[in-house]
Amino acid sequence: MIPYRRYSPRAVMADPVKFRSRQYSLDGRGFVKVFIALSFRSGRYYLPGEVAGRDNERRLEMAYNKIYMERAIALAKRGVGKVNPNPLVGCVIVKDDEILGEGYHEEYGGLHAERQALADAMKRGNNVYGADMYVTLEPCSHTGKQPPCTEAILDAGIKRVYVGSNDPNPLVAGNGIWQLRMAEVEVVTNCMKDECDALNPVFFHYITENTPYVVYKYAMTMDGKICTAKGESQWISNEKSREKVQTYRNELMGIMVGIETVLADDPSLRCHMDGGRDPIRIICDSQLRIPMESKLVQEAGEVKTYVASLAEHEKQNRQKIRELKDHGVGTLLITADESGKIDLNKLMSQLGKMHIDSILLEGGGTLAWSMINGGYVDEVRAFIAPKVFGGRDALTPVSGKGIEDINLAKTFELQELENIDGDIFARYLKR
Ligand SMILES: NC(=O)c1ccc[n+]([C@@H]2O[C@H](COP(=O)([O-])OP(=O)(O)OC[C@H]3O[C@@H](n4cnc5c(N)ncnc54)[C@H](OP(=O)(O)O)[C@@H]3O)[C@@H](O)[C@H]2O)c1
Repeated sequence: MIPYRRYSPRAVMADPVKFRSRQYSLDGRGFVKVFIALSFRSGRYYLPGEVAGRDNERRLEMAYNKIYMERAIALAKRGVGKVNPNPLVGCVIVKDDEILGEGYHEEYGGLHAERQALADAMKRGNNVYGADMYVTLEPCSHTGKQPPCTEAILDAGIKRVYVGSNDPNPLVAGNGIWQLRMAEVEVVTNCMKDECDALNPVFFHYITENTPYVVYKYAMTMDGKICTAKGESQWISNEKSREKVQTYRNELMGIMVGIETVLADDPSLRCHMDGGRDPIRIICDSQLRIPMESKLVQEAGEVKTYVASLAEHEKQNRQKIRELKDHGVGTLLITADESGKIDLNKLMSQLGKMHIDSILLEGGGTLAWSMINGGYVDEVRAFIAPKVFGGRDALTPVSGKGIEDINLAKTFELQELENIDGDIFARYLKR
């Protein structure tokens, strides 16, 4: 029997931790409202006990689930830039509304989130037998760099598992959930699924396509220019926007530019965020024109760097390939597409085989067009500064050949809009 106390349903939703389901139930007015609503909706009358108990318990359970899954999501995010090409995963173990243990996937090849949370509970001296587990991704059921998480969950005697995203990895793909259910563990799926799915677009793409997830990032003026007619581009966006870009270099595993950008800007393409990781640098350069004195070559001993050049020119470029190798630059020999440039389909497959799960494309416009036209750009992150450059010859974020028929436009869907101290930040996903 649930003891009776007065409370407002809104107050419970605002602070569910304060209102525990075993101590509070609906008061008179709240009860009448729910009773009428349910009776209308279902066409049958509910007994007072049914409404007060079931509906209230369910709402509170959902509120608790949200709190614990949100915590698991926050934990998962701590793995950004450290786990590729593995997914971001967070986990929380709860019993009697108390968190007994929590963890996340911290580094590639390291313990999975579930085992981290179990180890954390053990370290704290907590017995997890009969507890609930909240995990953002379906537990794995196969042996990879770590043994199956399902085994650890069963050994620990977890009673119920709330799962956020399903794991599309063909080695898991529902098998984790099935194994738990076969062992009579209650599994609740799709718990905050959208929020959990949003953690891992890179992993979901990479594990199913075996090619990198590509994000095209650019900064442009209100009139769509990425530099002045004279070629000046530093700086278009404000400092805060540029700081955000550094987090992308940490988040995504590779960074890619066309050779003209290297010749014009001599970029280093490194991550300047505190504690950030330098992405693997990839340059599309059919003729191997990259200057030996460029920063990309000179710093290749410190950061993995690859130049993609045409396999057809291997013989004539042999000496340069050797010199680049001596500086630590790898050459990826890729055959030409019909336009005589690097075949991007082959390059993407090659990068996938090298376990590069994600690429930050940083221009220029010619390469960006080839990548968008080929359907390789999955996401666009655009920074639009409140400035006008004008100039017929000033470059735009995407150039190349472009389309002639408006109906053939490449389309994206707006996902996010933010005002960053006056710059507009817009994030789009490929349709
Ligand atoms: N403001 C900004 O945010 C920003 C960012 C980046 C660049 N930029 C500016 O953009 C300018 C450079 O852009 P860009 O459009 O001239 O050149 P780009 O895109 O940097 O480089 C294009 C070159 O890449 C090579 N490439 C190899 N395979 C390719 C393929 N499949 N598709 C397309 N290109 C391929 C080609 O040269 P090969 O045939 O010799 O291989 C091609 O000419 C610079 O002025 C730079 O300052 C500005």
